[in-house]
Amino acid sequence: GRPLRVALLGCGTVGSEVARLLGEQAAELAARAGTPVELAGIAVRRPDKHPELPPGLLTEDAAGLVVRDDVDVVVELVGGIEPVRGWLLAALNAGKSVVTANKALLAEHSAQLFEAADAAGADLYFEAAVAGAIPLLRPLRESLAGDRITRVMGIVNGTTNYILSAMDATGAGYAETLDEASRLGYAEADPTADVDGYDAASKAAILASLAFHTRVTASEVHREGIGAVTASDLVAARVLGRTVKLLAICERVIDDDGAESVSARVHPVMIPRGHQLAGVGGAFNAVYVEADAAGELMFYGQGAGGSPTASAVLGDLVAVARNRVAGGRGPRESAHAALPVRPMGQT
Ligand code: HSE
Repeated sequence: GRPLRVALLGCGTVGSEVARLLGEQAAELAARAGTPVELAGIAVRRPDKHPELPPGLLTEDAAGLVVRDDVDVVVELVGGIEPVRGWLLAALNAGKSVVTANKALLAEHSAQLFEAADAAGADLYFEAAVAGAIPLLRPLRESLAGDRITRVMGIVNGTTNYILSAMDATGAGYAETLDEASRLGYAEADPTADVDGYDAASKAAILASLAFHTRVTASEVHREGIGAVTASDLVAARVLGRTVKLLAICERVIDDDGAESVSARVHPVMIPRGHQLAGVGGAFNAVYVEADAAGELMFYGQGAGGSPTASAVLGDLVAVARNRVAGGRGPRESAHAALPVRPMGQT
């Protein structure tokens, strides 16, 4: 069939891996997808900074690239809400499918993006937005669509997990450990979104929305970061046979009068050292899902980084290609439940 033509927005740690794998694995990907998957263009802020990429593919004009006639799908790896929201809405309105890793955008504007995708009959996939390489969103959207999920809970931020694990292992304080993590490249130059829990809150909003078929935005997630966790907290935890982890917890709550709501929160939790989540170290992520019929499931793996995140992006691209070959679409938003989000303090 006609190749699936990809516009790549952003070519940093993840984007460069996506571009590399699309080239190196082209034959295998084409065989699996049922059609070749080709780069049509790559939008970057500074084309002169990318001598490794074919100059003919590079452009500074993301807005122009996403609506180009020869583009079928936009892969967005720029991050942040504006101007990306405008690009992706323009792409969807023009009938292009979208694959994105942008948790902040999805956590605030997924309703708008899903509506545009539905109106155009386009696909919207975002496996890479939560927990990197770990297949988690597709299981929630598809594999568990016949079950009733009651809880999604886990470690969804690698930076804070690295810092808390290091504090636990060395006895060092928060500020000192954060500096060390930055020096070693485990924390971003600006670690605010990670250490203050914004990154995990965006992921919790996405997980709660999918798991409970409702709409939860990041601003509705109760959020507390790790900035107040001290070396003596870790010592106290150890004395109690516990350690401290930053958890995202999304639960279906039923009141005494039978009314259902959703609780979504991110905060440090003292957990028993024997708990499987206590053993999750470094930049790894791990998420428990509990469902009525399935029981307890655990998802574990690399939650960040170039190749792991690229794996999730490529999986989404193959899904888009297969849907097109089959003449259909992937799953739509399933936000029929409209459960209210429970204010903190009532849980
Ligand atoms: N900053 C994020 C983390 C990257 O530390 O987990 C993956 O979303």
